[in-house]
Amino acid sequence: MTAQLIDGNALSRQLRAEVAQRATALKARGTTPGLAVVLVGDNPASQVYVRNKVKACEDAGFHSVLEKYDASMTEAELLARVEALNNDPDIHGILVQLPLPAHIDDHKVIENISPLKDVDGFHVASAGALMVGEVGFKACTPYGCMKMLESIGMKDLRGKHAVVIGRSNIVGKPMAMMLLAANATVTICHSGTADLAAMTRQADIVVAAVGKRNVLTADMCKPGAVVIDVGMNRNDEGKLCGDVDFDGVKEVAGFITPVPGGVGPMTITMLLVNTMEAAERAAG
Ligand code: GUN
Repeated sequence: MTAQLIDGNALSRQLRAEVAQRATALKARGTTPGLAVVLVGDNPASQVYVRNKVKACEDAGFHSVLEKYDASMTEAELLARVEALNNDPDIHGILVQLPLPAHIDDHKVIENISPLKDVDGFHVASAGALMVGEVGFKACTPYGCMKMLESIGMKDLRGKHAVVIGRSNIVGKPMAMMLLAANATVTICHSGTADLAAMTRQADIVVAAVGKRNVLTADMCKPGAVVIDVGMNRNDEGKLCGDVDFDGVKEVAGFITPVPGGVGPMTITMLLVNTMEAAERAAG
């Protein structure tokens, strides 16, 4: 193995301890950071995610509210709850867990969250702020990937070529914008890319965010590259695995994130960072 691991659990512990300190300082000034997590329906994966988010809030000393609703909730009822949370001074961040039941338009719900409380960074105003370099909330998963790069001394990416595989609104596109803001030269690859391997072989940094196993294999990787694996899949034995062929790529890459224990814990950590930031902004 040539690659060094970037340990998302260790980095998360460090960043969460910093957030907890900031929470203590803000509480001394009379404001407790507050996050509302809204879950509609009984998607089993979502139940685990929201439980982890609420637990992380409690551990950081935040006020957290979990609102669980039956899958039969109407869109109008959910919009009314979002409006109430927008106007609740004890709540600084609002997270509506996706996916929502099919009869509810997730885009409409997200657009009705106040951009001042959009700690997921999914609102069009947040995406636009990232695009033009204004203050807004950054989407948690790509933000966590940037913190992982920073942790290995890669903050200014001038002269580096970053290849992002995947173009989703919640990872691929904001990831590319954050890498660009850090001065990287950025290529976005996707299902319409003619020769993915030709692109990734030129990359100093590869971020794989497709949701498919073995998207990046050792022969596609430049020796010494930094490989960030956002994927969360199951292999044939039912074991959690990423988008990267970890066993092969770790022999070629300079740095690699494991799955589990890589990007996963960073997503919740950055949710705490964003909620902390929202509370500090609200407190003035
Ligand atoms: N569903 C899966 N991941 C996420 C996330 O980061 N935020 C929200 N709101 N829903 C999700």
